[in-house]
Amino acid sequence: GLAGLAAVGGVGACTRALGDSDADKAANPALEMCLPGPEHTAREFRGPRQAGIIEDPQSHGAFVALDLATTATRDTLRRILKVWTDDIERLMSGRPSLTDQEPELAASPANLTVTVGVGPRTVAVAGATAPAWLAPLPAFPSIDRLEPRWSGGDLLLQITADSPTTVHHAQRRLVSGTGDLAAVRWVQRGFRDPFETAKRPMRNLFGQVDGTVQPRTDGPDDARLWVGADGPEWLRDGSALVLRRIRMNLDTWDEADRGTRENAVGRRLPDGSPLTAKAGSGPDVPSDLSATNSLGFPTIHEGAHIRRAAATAAHEVFLRRPYSYDDSVGSTSDAGLLFAAYCADPVRQFVPVQQRIADGDLLNTWITPVGSAVFAILPGARDGEILGQALVT
Ligand code: HEM
Repeated sequence: GLAGLAAVGGVGACTRALGDSDADKAANPALEMCLPGPEHTAREFRGPRQAGIIEDPQSHGAFVALDLATTATRDTLRRILKVWTDDIERLMSGRPSLTDQEPELAASPANLTVTVGVGPRTVAVAGATAPAWLAPLPAFPSIDRLEPRWSGGDLLLQITADSPTTVHHAQRRLVSGTGDLAAVRWVQRGFRDPFETAKRPMRNLFGQVDGTVQPRTDGPDDARLWVGADGPEWLRDGSALVLRRIRMNLDTWDEADRGTRENAVGRRLPDGSPLTAKAGSGPDVPSDLSATNSLGFPTIHEGAHIRRAAATAAHEVFLRRPYSYDDSVGSTSDAGLLFAAYCADPVRQFVPVQQRIADGDLLNTWITPVGSAVFAILPGARDGEILGQALVT
């Protein structure tokens, strides 16, 4: 039974199957009712780094920003982080939170991860020093149409799981767990294809293979992903999240022919292959930005997204972990990407790339950033610690 799970959902080494252990069943009687299945896989909460960043993205997500009450102190912040640590550890392992009203829903962690971040005001409330990058990104007036309702925030919960019910349940428990110490500022829900695998990579709502060129998550790029000794002590082994809500105009995209679409990215639609490689060779063949066609023009257009976005220096890399959203009501599309990027220093690593995109990316015809937020992602909680231990104690 369980061996087959690995084939079902790209279940990584950090994933554990619940339901076959008596301890798990004692912790949540609802597990007795069902055979172990893919919905009973749990990811590890404890560790030097938080979960939910480098593991395979689950198929459903909610990004929730909260604002601390105006009366917040370091002590109230510590209370929030203590409750969240306890509840997240329970929920990720298939156990109900302390005040759970629907413990049955907790029995299906479905690879749930909850990743906690803090905004600049929270660091100030804690009396700590924030890294210089923990601030709104610089404005990109040529493309930005930012709305306050999708921007900023004092605290962030990235809640992702392979079941939308699990995401909902965790969100509800964690938000209500803050009582009147914090209030929700915005919620952004997203989804990915639940059948993604290496052979069936993520496709965004434009139909493009997305998320191909990525930093390595197995060590060599760690200094790009995680805050190191040069960052504040309380953030060591933490990260930074840039969340851009980017609207994709599906109505005008419908009017673009396939040649125009492929040219705008520099890759083919059927298989994600770069235009400089043979059709059908797949997304993983490196693109050749110097290649020219018979007329001497660049094969990958000067404004093609993969040219604008390509790193021009070794440090210009970040991990993309986006979710699609669709909040359309009526015939006009309101859909796009919750573009989530993780790195150690967004100003140094992310902003130059975003600037090149703003300066002349062909995709800008169809995409518009409507929200933007930057959070410091806390280090993980080791045994006996709470999230943000070094920030609030
Ligand atoms: C590559 C789509 C926004 C950074 C790509 C690719 C697609 C794509 C289809 C090619 C496959 C891949 O390597 O993933 C989109 C869409 C966007 C969007 C639809 C907006 C709705 C952004 C933004 C950034 C960004 C805002 C960063 C500021 C990158 C990077 C690559 C990439 C770094 C890899 C470039 C390379 O080949 O080296 N994107 N993207 N993208 N995108 Fe985007």
